[in-house]
Amino acid sequence: MGQHQADTLREVFYVSRALLGPDEVQPLLTRARLNNQRLGLTGALLYSGGHFAQVLEGPGEVLAQVMDAIARDARHDQLRCLQQGDIAQRRLGDWDMAFLNGQGADDLLQQLLWSEQDLPPERVQRLMQHLLAAAGSADQVRSSGARNS
Ligand SMILES: Cc1cc2nc3c(=O)[nH]c(=O)nc-3n(C[C@H](O)[C@H](O)[C@H](O)COP(=O)(O)O)c2cc1C
Repeated sequence: MGQHQADTLREVFYVSRALLGPDEVQPLLTRARLNNQRLGLTGALLYSGGHFAQVLEGPGEVLAQVMDAIARDARHDQLRCLQQGDIAQRRLGDWDMAFLNGQGADDLLQQLLWSEQDLPPERVQRLMQHLLAAAGSADQVRSSGARNS
């Protein structure tokens, strides 16, 4: 992820191929939420059955460390970073990790993952906006108590 100021707020948006079963997602999420709360990370994770898409944001140093762990995690592979960079403010500040069940998005994520070309930034932005909007209205997740108070 390169060098940056430790306290600079950064974000990462990636897609990957899921290598776990549906019943293994909840334990992953529980652990991620605990860690993120402790580390000051926020984000949203979409699971489509075959793929993940995740937005993760927080202080650059700690974000880089967790991204290293995520990249080495055997529960997925083919991690493709679609966007990363500094941000002025959090977009998912309410969430340790919002969870979105995105079965309908599996084909789209597969295309994104295997596309040979560099993806047009507008397309990446659009997808990310969808994810953020969905996280913003994820009432079911909100009522699970994972939303920060
Ligand atoms: C798709 C995916 C998303 C993940 N997201 C996070 C996350 O947001 N925060 C986190 O701490 N770990 C996340 N993990 C888990 C990490 O890869 C790693 O297992 C974890 O950080 C190790 O934490 P532990 O030492 O507390 O077990 C994710 C893993 C996968 C496969």
